[in-house]
Amino acid sequence: MAFYDLRDFLESCRKENDLIEVDRYVDVNLEMGKALKKSYANNGPVIIFRNNGTDYPAVGGVFGNRKKALRALNAQNNTVLPWFAETIDRPIAPVMVKSAPCQEIIIEGEDVDLGKFPIPKFSELDGGPYLTAGISISKDPETGIADLGHYRFQAIGKDYFGFMAQPFHRLGKNCNKAKALGMKKFEMALVVGTDPVLAYTCQVQNVPDTTDDWSLAGALRGQPVELVKCRTIDVEVPATAEFVFELEIDFETEVSEGPLGEYTGYMTPASERPIARVKAITHRKDPYFQVLLTGKPVTENHILKNIPLEASFYNAMKKQFPTITDVAVTPSGGVQLYAVIAMKQRYANEARHVILSAMSSNVRPKWIVVVDPDINVHDSAEVEWALSFRVDPGRDVILVNNVPSAPLDPSSHGDSLQEKTNSTIGIDATMPFGKLYATVAEVAGWEDYSFPEISSER
Ligand SMILES: Cc1cc2nc3c(=O)[nH]c(=O)nc-3n(C[C@H](O)[C@H](O)[C@H](O)COP(=O)(O)O)c2cc1C
Repeated sequence: MAFYDLRDFLESCRKENDLIEVDRYVDVNLEMGKALKKSYANNGPVIIFRNNGTDYPAVGGVFGNRKKALRALNAQNNTVLPWFAETIDRPIAPVMVKSAPCQEIIIEGEDVDLGKFPIPKFSELDGGPYLTAGISISKDPETGIADLGHYRFQAIGKDYFGFMAQPFHRLGKNCNKAKALGMKKFEMALVVGTDPVLAYTCQVQNVPDTTDDWSLAGALRGQPVELVKCRTIDVEVPATAEFVFELEIDFETEVSEGPLGEYTGYMTPASERPIARVKAITHRKDPYFQVLLTGKPVTENHILKNIPLEASFYNAMKKQFPTITDVAVTPSGGVQLYAVIAMKQRYANEARHVILSAMSSNVRPKWIVVVDPDINVHDSAEVEWALSFRVDPGRDVILVNNVPSAPLDPSSHGDSLQEKTNSTIGIDATMPFGKLYATVAEVAGWEDYSFPEISSER
């Protein structure tokens, strides 16, 4: 059963003793980030910071660990990948409602003041406070198809943000398309605080740009998302969202956005980006403002991406290569740069086709390792074993130079986000097809052998 909204999910965390409320003052400027990092390092609970110097409680750690992700998705650890991959192929369309809790309170005109919200600054070197937990909702300017995504929004002025959308993500594509069509302005909404499934939906990659993300979210929830029209822009938003920022991007006015400590674990420098002006803010009564820590892996950012990205990559790759059995796109690689794929080859060197296909996927991985199905892709020791003893580097490595890269990877070359390139490497760590390989040295039957002197309960 899906969670109705963020509050419903928080209640379930409370019941599981996985939520704490902090009443003492915690500063949104630098202190909240420390608290969230500490909680992450200790596999900690969701935290509600009641006293943060604003009128609104801040909620962090909603994506703090895999257990919370599985709770939000109502899924089991060992079946989540195939479940997620199959579910996104069964869309459930959203439904429109006329009035909605997210519009209980309306703030417009002179009353708009981003300084009144608990938007944190995480690290000393960040250019300012960053709204990283917002879900961006934009529509393809030609087809009107909705995209949900996460993009960094820096609160710069009283009523405007600077933001960064990479050209291979859909908000970036939508903006570039709007500009190419001669549009000077582009409407979008930024939604804060929803049923967490909507956030996991944002991180589905490798689906066509014609995918309506509301229907994907409906599929993962098992029931339709309820939407309401924004008040000042032609965009639909979830009726039960805590906050909605109705924005208008002005391509003709640029602001300096950044630096920010990114998911790569490195600071990205400031650069000129289009301004996003706030036309209105609407929110529920007694709303919760969600915050999300980003920076050197592993943070909430990586937990949030991990399951949806692996599952959608698995879904897309399996359509082309049906004997793929598992994939891992690891948090330490930013859930992007390092991918391991397990497969049973159907013919000689099929693993090399898999590598070439993965290289050209929208994940843009820099390292791709293909292993046989007996290797657990989620266990780095097993992958290292395969790399060590099933690879002849002179034969099994594919290096491709000058391909579009993850633009924020500091080892990439090129100036603008559009120009960034790098090399990418694939390693076929499967055993040669159709040939007898060395026999694995196993102590057969040890797992089922009863040996009470050393039991697993010790
Ligand atoms: C917390 C968070 C912040 C992100 N910030 C950005 C960003 O500022 N710019 C960007 O291009 N991608 C960013 N990403 C990555 C995209 O959100 C992500 O790849 C997403 O799948 C894009 O989906 P879309 O292409 O459907 O919009 C971020 C991801 C997370 C989890």
